[in-house]
Amino acid sequence: MSGTRTEEIQRLSEQVLMPNYRRAPVAFARGEGVRLFDLEGRVYLDFVGGIAVSALGHAHPRLTAAIQAQAARLLHVSNLYLIPEQVRLARWLTARSGLDRAFFCNSGAEANEAAIKLARRWAHAQGGGRHEILVAEGAFHGRTLAALAATPVAKYQEGFAPLPTGFRAVPFNDPGALADAVGEQTCAILLEPVQGESGVRPATPEFLAAARRLADAHGLLLIFDEVQTGIGRTGALFAFQAYGITPDVITLAMGLGGGVPIGAVLARAEVAEVLQPGTHGSTFGGNPLACAAALAVVEAVEQDGLAARAATTGVALAEGLRELGRRVGGITTVRGRGLLVAADLDREAAPVVDGCRDHGLLVNGVQPRTLRFAPPLIVREEEVREALAILGEVLAPPAEGGEG
Ligand SMILES: Cc1ncc(COP(=O)(O)O)c(C=O)c1O
Repeated sequence: MSGTRTEEIQRLSEQVLMPNYRRAPVAFARGEGVRLFDLEGRVYLDFVGGIAVSALGHAHPRLTAAIQAQAARLLHVSNLYLIPEQVRLARWLTARSGLDRAFFCNSGAEANEAAIKLARRWAHAQGGGRHEILVAEGAFHGRTLAALAATPVAKYQEGFAPLPTGFRAVPFNDPGALADAVGEQTCAILLEPVQGESGVRPATPEFLAAARRLADAHGLLLIFDEVQTGIGRTGALFAFQAYGITPDVITLAMGLGGGVPIGAVLARAEVAEVLQPGTHGSTFGGNPLACAAALAVVEAVEQDGLAARAATTGVALAEGLRELGRRVGGITTVRGRGLLVAADLDREAAPVVDGCRDHGLLVNGVQPRTLRFAPPLIVREEEVREALAILGEVLAPPAEGGEG
């Protein structure tokens, strides 16, 4: 039931864009809070959140004002010069993460790419030729070649050989396998505290504690990819904080800019030290616009208590999904942390995603039979109830001929 403009955009889209995305036949004209409005004026509750990006929702006055003011002052100067906004953002992030230094880039894959280079350079500086990075099966670290090599999932890697070497995958949440995998070549362990793309799978406390212990015992860097989990998403500012351990390096991106592209790597000072002038860089990374936007986001997250709110609203969402599963069926398992929640279905996710969209709810099929919910952190419980009601309608067996 697409209107003419949407159909036209879809047709042109297929003509001029590379076909690497499977796009839903909908285009949005504007957003407000947790709602999006399409070109035909239909309204949607946004429980995708731009894939865990739109932390403050759409058109948040504080973020909009920060972007407008910075755009009117200065967009970009390059890292040949001092950038006050970058310093302010780095101070904010380091003060709260327990890490000491920041490097800014433009995306999650770039942040992981930088963290991988940092780990190798750090190992190189120590001598001995260690270079191998342990990663977890099911991980997703991004699409650049090194981040892809760190993503041991066949469907993403297929056809892109040769990938950079030096990554070894171990089963996720298996501390024994992780310990067994540490060898003479190992220099780092790279993990998502909650695996996002594989279907929102939280690491067990035992697994992350083992990773920290092994890193300490063998002099490895412990790197957490918080690209999807960082900035309040899981109910804490950083997901690692709920586990009571501190990594040596973390990567951030999605929620950080609230929709303005930015990525970051945070590291302990002595690790960061190896990235001396000329070793790594990014033309756009940490430019005044991106940093002003990210500052507005992180300050709003803190001042409005959005991490704590994500924890509470996330429980309401997860509980509501479980209740829906009991009442109307269709949902077999619910898991997640804060406002990063997944529901496994007893059926294909794609028709459910389409049905929800037709009913005014955006959700994402993160795996063939799994829905992911990552609404803006500002989402209210009544909006969660509204979303659950729509999902219930879509999942409920048909009145006629259904099992009931
Ligand atoms: C945990 C994690 N790391 C890295 C990435 C890659 O981020 P980007 O798409 O910004 O390159 C993603 C994207 O889904 C992610 O979920």
